[in-house]
Amino acid sequence: MPHPELPAACLYSRPSLGRLWKKVHLACSPFLQRPALQRIYRLPSPRLRKHFGRRPYSVLALGCADGIKESLLLQKLPSPAVLLTADTNPSLARQAAIRLAARKKIWRKIDLTHELPASLSRALQPALFIPTLKTHKLPILITLFGVLPNLTPLPLLKRIARFLRPEDLFLFSANLAPGTKGHSGALRVLPQYDNPPTREWLEAAVAQFRPRLPKGRLEFGIFSDPQQKSLARIEARWISQRKTFTVFSSRRPTSSQVEAWIRTARLRKVARYLDPLGEEGVWLVARKA
Ligand SMILES: C[S@@+](CC[C@H](N)C(=O)[O-])C[C@H]1O[C@@H](n2cnc3c(N)ncnc32)[C@H](O)[C@@H]1O
Repeated sequence: MPHPELPAACLYSRPSLGRLWKKVHLACSPFLQRPALQRIYRLPSPRLRKHFGRRPYSVLALGCADGIKESLLLQKLPSPAVLLTADTNPSLARQAAIRLAARKKIWRKIDLTHELPASLSRALQPALFIPTLKTHKLPILITLFGVLPNLTPLPLLKRIARFLRPEDLFLFSANLAPGTKGHSGALRVLPQYDNPPTREWLEAAVAQFRPRLPKGRLEFGIFSDPQQKSLARIEARWISQRKTFTVFSSRRPTSSQVEAWIRTARLRKVARYLDPLGEEGVWLVARKA
């Protein structure tokens, strides 16, 4: 029987937890330490420039935190007409909006475990700013970086696929298990999680969680995703005398598992950018015709 799980949003949504997550990111994230990983967020820009041409477009940055990855991507693109940054932590979404250039900026709290609200598409259409384009919907670029590991991936991809229109593009990243065997690949990256700053962040989230969890300790390990047995999941579990809880989980698919999700979610792969060490990948996709 699977253990009860804390919702991922509980680890980020309070301002103090957002600050602790940022500390973990600065100390432990390979993205900040390896230029090759930063590059995979810059590489899609020419393709996006070609797709949108000179047309105005909007950007919806989902689960953006403070927008560092989006800033690499957007550096080489014309500023979007509207930028909407959305995260469970609104103060991080605000930081992202401040960091990124756009003609109009909006930030929002969002819960990505639910259907994307229709109000998002209305907010992304700048009729007030370009009156001549009133009847013409702007194409939207949706980004979703570093979120797929924390939430159940296939339902999330399906929710975003339902939101996409034919002219929109969707760019997402996945943290991968290097190699072709998920579990042994995930074991190689376990030290990126089992370390003092990550423990400090997760223990703070446990202390703030209500109803209170019993006294216990954190243990990290590799397990199978309860919803897809072949998918490796790095978990931090809270072990108490009576009960075990999954506090944090990071799914580590292989790139072929990601591509199977793309097909099942009725998306079409446009391009793929892989980290040379195979620890992370970025996929550019569109709605299937
Ligand atoms: C691992 S961080 C990645 C942040 C950033 N995009 C990056 O790649 O560095 C996961 C992000 O997803 C957000 N998040 C987690 N659960 C969420 C939910 N249910 N709805 C919306 N955002 C969520 C967190 O606040 C956090 O910013």
